[in-house]
Amino acid sequence: MISSDVRPSSLEGQGSPAVPGPPGYPIVGALPKVMKDPLPFLTQVTREYGDVVCLGGFGSQKFYLVTHPDDIERVWKTHHRNYVRGSNFQLLKPLGGDGLFLSEGDEWRRQRKLLQPAFHVTRLMGMVETINASIAAMLERWGREIVPGQPFNLEREMMSLLIEVSVKTLFGTDVAGDTATVHETITTAFSILHRRVLSAVPFPWWVPFPRHVRFLRAVAELDKVVYRLIEQRRRSGVEGSDVLSTLLSVRDEDGQPMPDRQIRDQVVTMLVAGHESTGATLSWALYLLSRYPEVMRRVQDELAVVLGGRTPGFQDLPRLPYLSMVFKETLRLYPPFWMITRTPVADDVLSGHRVPAGSILMFSSYVTQRRPDFWPNPEAFDPDRFLPENSEGRPQFAWYPFGGGPRVCIGARMAEMEALLVLGALLQQYELHAVPGRRVEPAAMLSLRPKGGLWMTLHRR
Ligand code: HEM
Repeated sequence: MISSDVRPSSLEGQGSPAVPGPPGYPIVGALPKVMKDPLPFLTQVTREYGDVVCLGGFGSQKFYLVTHPDDIERVWKTHHRNYVRGSNFQLLKPLGGDGLFLSEGDEWRRQRKLLQPAFHVTRLMGMVETINASIAAMLERWGREIVPGQPFNLEREMMSLLIEVSVKTLFGTDVAGDTATVHETITTAFSILHRRVLSAVPFPWWVPFPRHVRFLRAVAELDKVVYRLIEQRRRSGVEGSDVLSTLLSVRDEDGQPMPDRQIRDQVVTMLVAGHESTGATLSWALYLLSRYPEVMRRVQDELAVVLGGRTPGFQDLPRLPYLSMVFKETLRLYPPFWMITRTPVADDVLSGHRVPAGSILMFSSYVTQRRPDFWPNPEAFDPDRFLPENSEGRPQFAWYPFGGGPRVCIGARMAEMEALLVLGALLQQYELHAVPGRRVEPAAMLSLRPKGGLWMTLHRR
């Protein structure tokens, strides 16, 4: 049920003006243009048509692009009860099942409460050693395998590292034998998902196209491993600081443990939501640092003063404020979840425009976070934007790579911790340079990734 505070009032009973938008084709409107090249197109229509842009759509199910921070705050925070996740989330159903990411209403509230302890600061602290061990192993391997000055695909390295880190922080460190299978299945599933996001007609997964069959087979393989790991841990009774331990120990109001199916949905959700987003952010951060030597120098100075060559620990993280701003500024320019949808349950009014129940609202943090009215010189990489004195007067929702309101990313702190640990260790040993002449562009797929990988060269410091 929708509470009275979510009812629109300002246009109630009045005719509302049509929402402006670019010309398009009959029925589908401008949607084909969105799909062809979303980032420049959505940026341009926002500049041309304003805070709410109609992009066409089928019948009453119109698509609106919403980019003003006040509207985002209304939808995500103050009036969130009037909104449900859009149908584009259903794409993730075979992976996320009925886990936190895809649940709604009371069921979501129940799950969120149960899962919150897995991200408590003491749990995060307990993960640091595991994460640092994976980082050290990667850096050691780089020293052996990567020829200085020879281009290598940094993005692939970051994704592999984040899959390993996610598996170990979720399931514990005694899963070495299964990491390869999880890596393989999740990489296959994601490569297919990425292409699916851009397909004009999203056929359901059960339609037996070869790529659908491969996707479902990869998910089934992943499930086999996950159920076995749950079973093993349940039998062993060992308590660790991993997420699986928390899930096995939680009880609902009736004192009942979480059923295996639900544990599976939650851990796979975390795996899916956590590895790719953080891996992509790290790739972009390292790319941006290679393009901005002055920023890189300040990072290295901070690391030298605070760590002096040591591996960073949990207690060091608050002492790395500049690196933390580098992380935030990277997420401003390249937010992994560059487009998220919501659907109003009842009509609402955003920036003076009526958005009807059932329509699809598209929120692009990529576009909002590059709006020149909130971010002067928006294309420049400038971590100092996040200094308190430079943030005054900027609306909270001018930056929302982790979403906001009650459904804000549950793993945001964990992601920042992982990123700072990786950057802190890596940048003390190596410098990375972009390969001259190779264009680096974002590909807007399920997440924002460098098109064709990110080719860099490695140099020991
Ligand atoms: C840089 C890294 C990350 C980014 C940019 C990111 C971004 C987001 C965003 C934008 C949402 C909100 C989606 C919506 O409201 O529709 C979200 C939700 C979520 N994220 Fe993250 N995420 C990151 C890392 C992680 C990690 C490391 C985990 C877990 C290990 C995680 C788990 C989740 C879950 C479970 C949700 C659903 C929360 C709910 O609905 O209550 N994320 N994330």
